[in-house]
This record gives sequence, C-alpha cells and structure tokens, in this order.
Amino acid sequence: MSNLPTEETVLSVEHYTDRLFKFTISRPSSFRFRSGEFVMIGLPKIEGQKKSIMRAYSVASPSWADELEFYSIKVADGPLTSRLQKIKKGDTVLLSRKPVGTLVLDALLPGKNLYMFSTGTGIAPFASLIRDPDTYERYERVILTHTCRQKAELSYGMQLIEKIKNDPLVGDMVNGKLLHLTTLTREEHPVNGRITDLIKSGGLFREIGLHEMRADKDRAMICGSKDMIDDTAKLMKQFGLREGSNSIPAEFVIEKSFVG
Ligand code: A2P
Repeated sequence: MSNLPTEETVLSVEHYTDRLFKFTISRPSSFRFRSGEFVMIGLPKIEGQKKSIMRAYSVASPSWADELEFYSIKVADGPLTSRLQKIKKGDTVLLSRKPVGTLVLDALLPGKNLYMFSTGTGIAPFASLIRDPDTYERYERVILTHTCRQKAELSYGMQLIEKIKNDPLVGDMVNGKLLHLTTLTREEHPVNGRITDLIKSGGLFREIGLHEMRADKDRAMICGSKDMIDDTAKLMKQFGLREGSNSIPAEFVIEKSFVG
C-alpha cells in the first residue's frame, strides 16, 4: 500500500477568532484511528514548492464519526496555517495514512477520575475522547479543563459541550459524569488563572468538589504548549502519578499541541 497522503475534501470551515478555526474533511473508509490520536495534515504543493508541508494535528472528531474534524490555530507567517486558514468547502487537504499518539485510553492504567488538562488548541484530542463512549465506560468522572487567554477562545469547547448533551450516542452517559471547567488568564471570568496555579493552590479541586489528585484513583491527559505540559507534568509527578505510554501504561500521558 502507498504511504503517500490521501487527498480529502474540505466539508466545512468555521472561524472562531482571528487566531482559531475548525474544519472538517472527508474520511477515507480505510482510515482507522483511536480517539485522541493525531495525523499529519497538509495542502497540495503550490508552484515552486518541492514538497508539501505536513504538520501534526489531533483528530478532534470521535473514532466513530464519518467526517474528520480538526481545530487549528492561525499563524500569519506559519508555514502551513498561513495557507490552511484560507481553505473553503470543496478544497483539497492532504491526510497521512497512519494516526499515532499517546493521548489514548489504552496508555493509562484503569482509574476512577480522568482529568484532561488543555490550553488553547490543546482541547482538540479531548474533543474526540469526550465523544467516545469508551471514556465513560472506563471512568466514573471525566474532568475537562480548558484554559485560554480570552473568552472568545473558549467558544469551540463551549459549543462542543452544549452539543454533546444531546448527542444520541453519549448524551446520556455524560450526564453528571463530564465536568467542563473553563479558566481565563487575561480577561475576567468566573475562574481565572493558569491551570498549573489552580492545581498548586487547590482551587481546581475546590471548584469541582474533588480531592487532590492521587495515584491510586486519578489519571490525567495533558495537551498544550511545551511549557504548559512540562509544568503540569511536574505537578502530576508531585502527586505520585507516573508518565505512561502505549507500551507501558501508567497514570498520566502528554502530547504537545501543534503551533505554526
Ligand atoms: P498566560 O496568559 O498566563 O500566558 P497560548 O495562547 O500562549 O498558547 O496560551 C494559552 C493559555 O495557556 C493561556 O491562558 C496561557 O496563560 C496558558 N499558559 C501558557 N504557558 C503556561 C504554562 N507554562 N503553564 C500553564 N499554563 C500556561
């Protein structure tokens, strides 16, 4: 089988802010992935370009969906997103054939509460996982935290949570199980502050009514910038959680969200 990316059709595009947008593309029938994994996305070469520029993107749609959804940042001089942000319905997007990643349920040991810590577009893999019935079959509580600078940047996540309540597949399962905590760092909001500060101060646990994290009960997935991941991972280790992988599952897993 060829290793070349497949050519997919853009089905929809939605812009949230001048920095954020979502798009959906067709899904080849041979394309299988586990919720939380990422793929390489690119655009057909333009004149003068030797190779297509491909970048890692978490699939935001659940593994059972017909379309593939992605949530992206726009960077004016970004090698890919400067062009990608201009795509329209009917355009062609390149999709790699092999999804990979560690933000998957199988990389964690069984537990009671699953924390998903995200900043910015780092919410994308969790958009997939919170629409997967398997997540609710494995955990009693799922806590999705999303921290951004400004309120407009929370829209994608808010919309997702609203829709999920009426979802025919997981709507009933999320009831009382899924907690969505949004925090802002540069605008007034019911909860302000970086997630790392809220973990350190205990404010997070007071807000959601749970005990501080413990290795025997709590599991975590972290997705954001490199600094955010490093800082949050350090805190997980202080609670006694160990970093897991596909080959050696443990108590928390990390993945960097793509920028550029
Ligand atoms: P802050 O506004 O204090 O920098 P960005 O848009 O730069 O990717 O940031 C997204 C969110 O992640 C912002 O709210 C930002 O807070 C927060 N953030 C940035 N660095 C860290 C970090 N090292 N630990 C936790 N949160 C972070």
